[in-house]
Amino acid sequence: MKKGQVSWITGASSGIGEAVAQLLAAEQHKLILSARRRDELERVKSLCIQAGAKAEDVYVLVLDMTGFDAMEQKVQEAHGQFGRIDFLFNNAGISQRSLCVDSELHTYRKLFEVDVFGQIALTKLVLPVMLEQGSGHLSVTASVAGKIGVPYRTGYCAAKHAMMGFFDALRAEVARENIYVSTVTPGFIRTNISNKALNGDGSEFGKMDQDIQTGMDVHRAARKIVKGWKKGKAEIPVGKGVEMHALWIKRFFPKLLQKIVARKAAPV
Ligand SMILES: NC(=O)c1ccc[n+]([C@@H]2O[C@H](COP(=O)([O-])OP(=O)(O)OC[C@H]3O[C@@H](n4cnc5c(N)ncnc54)[C@H](OP(=O)(O)O)[C@@H]3O)[C@@H](O)[C@H]2O)c1
Repeated sequence: MKKGQVSWITGASSGIGEAVAQLLAAEQHKLILSARRRDELERVKSLCIQAGAKAEDVYVLVLDMTGFDAMEQKVQEAHGQFGRIDFLFNNAGISQRSLCVDSELHTYRKLFEVDVFGQIALTKLVLPVMLEQGSGHLSVTASVAGKIGVPYRTGYCAAKHAMMGFFDALRAEVARENIYVSTVTPGFIRTNISNKALNGDGSEFGKMDQDIQTGMDVHRAARKIVKGWKKGKAEIPVGKGVEMHALWIKRFFPKLLQKIVARKAAPV
């Protein structure tokens, strides 16, 4: 991660993406900010300028991660803006707050379209650019839910596990190509993630749940993520709660973890 590099952030209109954008702006990255809401992206662009970026170095590129037909043209637009793409942060995502028995198949499809196929489609289009350049960095915001299964998140856990597998496998494929692949595995971070999460019928959950409310401050999380990239870490855990212990409990005491998680039957 070098000053002045071209960094493309998805999910840049809010939460983790917004906070990371400001940190990279302060380090003179040339930024491409993507999400669906242009007005929110323009707001984040202003914050990036306040953080030290030049206005001409921050490009707002509206992108729906489920707009697969338009994606090739969007990648050309992003590439054309600064002539290269050094870093892609696949961070856009939505979560879930519903039991399997109450979740409709179209809700699972929506989660997978945004959290899995959107990331794969974009990564597949940016990878040739990086191979041609002879360098690059691909990162994804997975989750602790991409390493353990928790109630009310069957679709989200499945999607994030898929992303861990995809990017771990991709890392091995591009290991000799000077392309660095990292996965970010947050626990609970205080953002809009639960407000925008899907109920079983696909409607918005619409509130900040307790775990997110008491989660890590998003700017602190962003600092940890950027520090992890700078250290060249393959996997970057970030969070402050008990959920961060789940990974080693799973490894050494798998039955204990199953009991703890099963007790956590209420989402709010
Ligand atoms: N917060 C946590 O506790 C936590 C924990 C683990 C993992 N994560 C992951 O962190 C990532 C960022 O989430 P966050 O916590 O920062 O939540 P957030 O504040 O809700 O941000 C989500 C971002 O994703 C974008 N997005 C959602 N659907 C999209 C679509 N169809 N196309 C394009 N962009 C879309 C949103 O922008 P628009 O609405 O403008 O499109 C927004 O910028 C997600 O992948 C999430 O799963 C979060």
